[in-house]
Amino acid sequence: MTTAPTNPDAQRPPASEPEAGAGDVVIRLRDVTKRFGGQTVLEALSLDVRRGETMVVMGGSGSGKSTTLRLMIGSLRPDAGSVELFGQNICTLDEDGLNSVRKRFGILFQSGALFNSMTLRENVALPLIEHTELDREIIEIQVQIKLELVGLREHADKYPSQISGGMKKRAGLARALALDPQILFYDEPSAGLDPVTSAEIDQLIVALSKKIGVTSVVVTHEMDSAFTIADRMAMLDKGRMLRVETRQWYEALRDEPAEQAAGRPESERLIRQFLRGDPEGPLTARRSSEGFERALFGDARPIERTPSVEATRRG
Ligand SMILES: Nc1ncnc2c1ncn2[C@@H]1O[C@H](COP(=O)(O)OP(=O)(O)OP(=O)(O)O)[C@@H](O)[C@H]1O
Ligand SMILES: [Mg+2]
Repeated sequence: MTTAPTNPDAQRPPASEPEAGAGDVVIRLRDVTKRFGGQTVLEALSLDVRRGETMVVMGGSGSGKSTTLRLMIGSLRPDAGSVELFGQNICTLDEDGLNSVRKRFGILFQSGALFNSMTLRENVALPLIEHTELDREIIEIQVQIKLELVGLREHADKYPSQISGGMKKRAGLARALALDPQILFYDEPSAGLDPVTSAEIDQLIVALSKKIGVTSVVVTHEMDSAFTIADRMAMLDKGRMLRVETRQWYEALRDEPAEQAAGRPESERLIRQFLRGDPEGPLTARRSSEGFERALFGDARPIERTPSVEATRRG
């Protein structure tokens, strides 16, 4: 049985996580706030991703995982705070600057995002043709290497419609690897795959990290997958960063006996419920009380008292 974490650090707030040396951090988010219309989707979010690690970003639906990823790849800009990649604040870069940073990372989209009219070979070659001056023969060798890495070399001349969902994901990964990226971003890599294929994708993510030392950021709410691939894990809740810890810390929290976990702060009990998929706990209690509020007030939120109103009342 896993022993419960007893270190005093378990109680500390996430902001006090020790800062890694500047050279070790390839992605640095500081106090990032993102709003859509009137809705604050991310609030004062900070996160460091270190060179070579696999960071899993998890959280419930709508907690802001994909938004965080889109900020990291520069497809969204924050309303406040900064996003640094390789020590460069990408929020202040123009399109040209952003494009040169983009060549240093690969993205695996949910669908694999392959071009259906091209073979796998052509799909993987495309970024090399577009972004490099390499000769056709060199590109062909690169394509073979990337397809071999994901186990698809024999299928190079097939079209996306001729392969399975899992193979499409792997082909998408080969294409994301085309330019030898230093960072790979994945959004829900195993969504829509059967458990075995999904486990294969997890193994591939681990293997790539070991073989080519790439830094990975993986957004997922599938816990089996998260615990297989993560070095560290970041838990988002309603647009706030609840906790960034090692996989082992999360494992210990997940496996802790209920009586012992009952003494933990609410945020940790909430994370524990999420990790275990328990039907009861702080997450569901919160949802049902929110539902009650909505039933009472409809969609109009009760007016929040501003501090100045409070001050007037007290005074
Ligand atoms: N372009 C947009 N315009 C308006 N609202 C948006 C936009 N993108 C995201 N949101 C809102 O931001 C919140 C967070 O969305 P996000 O897609 O980041 O969640 P998520 O954690 O990835 O969820 P899921 O697990 O369902 O993919 C949601 O309430 C969503 O409706
Ligand atoms: Mg998402």
